[in-house]
Amino acid sequence: MTVTVRPTAAEVAALNREYTFFDWAAQDAVRPIAVEWAEGSYLFDHDGRRILDFNAQLMNVNLGHQHPAVVAAIKAQADKLCYVNPRFASQPRGELGRELAHITPGPLCKSFFTLGGSEATDHAIKAARLATGKHKIVARRRSYHGATYGALTLTGEARRWATEPGIPGVVRAADPYRYRCRFCSGQPACDLRCADDIDEVIRVEGPDHVAAVIVEPIAGANGVVVPPDGYLQRVRDICDEHGVLLIADEVMSGFGRTGRWFAVEHWGVEPDIMTISKGLTSGSVPLGAVVMSEQVARHFDANQFWAGLTYGAHTLACAAALATIQAYRDEGIPERVEAMGEVLRAEFAAMAERHPSIGEARSLGLFSALELVRNRTTREPLVPQIEPAYEFHGVMRRIGAFMLERGVSTMIRWNWIFVNPPLTVSLDELHEGLAVLDEALEIADAEVARG
Ligand SMILES: Cc1ncc(COP(=O)(O)O)c(C=O)c1O
Repeated sequence: MTVTVRPTAAEVAALNREYTFFDWAAQDAVRPIAVEWAEGSYLFDHDGRRILDFNAQLMNVNLGHQHPAVVAAIKAQADKLCYVNPRFASQPRGELGRELAHITPGPLCKSFFTLGGSEATDHAIKAARLATGKHKIVARRRSYHGATYGALTLTGEARRWATEPGIPGVVRAADPYRYRCRFCSGQPACDLRCADDIDEVIRVEGPDHVAAVIVEPIAGANGVVVPPDGYLQRVRDICDEHGVLLIADEVMSGFGRTGRWFAVEHWGVEPDIMTISKGLTSGSVPLGAVVMSEQVARHFDANQFWAGLTYGAHTLACAAALATIQAYRDEGIPERVEAMGEVLRAEFAAMAERHPSIGEARSLGLFSALELVRNRTTREPLVPQIEPAYEFHGVMRRIGAFMLERGVSTMIRWNWIFVNPPLTVSLDELHEGLAVLDEALEIADAEVARG
């Protein structure tokens, strides 16, 4: 007789920790939540505990967990054909390419499929270098573009430090981080000198040597930094002036997160290359893509595209992405997010009135973060920013633990608390999570009161 014993959450976590590595952490510090199943906005652990997923995992499970149409599409495709090598053609792959050409802005028309966002970054700069015959890439200081060597070199934040030196040819420019801007913080209006810094960097590095500028339209992992109006348009103009390609990394900001299909649409900007992943399959199956403009894509008509991945354009993943995009459309996700985003913005404004620890509340649609400070006048961060450790310093650790204890999981990094629920989140679920966050902020306020 076979006896099946249901493992506890602690046993599953211990098994994982014993035999597998967890991301961005000294392994002894890792305390994973052992998830057995999930549905919509909720995770259920092996002890039967229900946890509200207030960050859609890594801002990727945009449709909520186990979306029925996506699961059905995966099952149907798995029954027929899981995989063919990327030199073969498949119907889901072709249809997905056409769909992406349709929903991405302006001239973007042809996709190279990867397994995730980091590989999309690497292949975006590879395509830019090959298409322009130039090699330098301008990236910003507070950015995250992925964990592979190329993507991590482009990454501005401290996660890069430990693996330096990375790839050659990456130069860095300022960020549109108005709350802590060295150009215009404290002044009544932004005069876009942060964009002009990109212009200066290109001039100093030599426009004939710079292939591309890569930006997250809204810097995600570095605190959901929404740029001032006019910024992205100015960056577009600067790139055009110098014959430099603009790469928009929409891995986190894409697929409805901001209330548009892609964040660049808020400012009417059309990049030459766009990288996407995360919401592309709503986290169901790994997939990323580099979507190129007609002009960039045409370069590779007669010139070899030096790239290939065994699992590129994976058939199952392409079928999942097609179903995901259809669900965004059927459920009017971008429009829904715009409306829910207004609720979130109002709630954040009310919280900022109540909690002296909130320095700035930033959001666009359901892409949001609170920046906590020790002192609103000096804007001293509640815990130091720019440290290599990934998350959970001191008081921020206590805030995260409190929220989890109350059944809400979200992402906390340095002095930022992220609120990025599935885009299908209900009003009740949003209020449930915000109520717990509101209580948790009293821990931060007490720290502020201590001085
Ligand atoms: C803007 C951005 N680019 C690239 C990546 C890397 O994507 P992946 O983790 O799928 O490799 C991320 C991941 O968070 C991201 O936020």
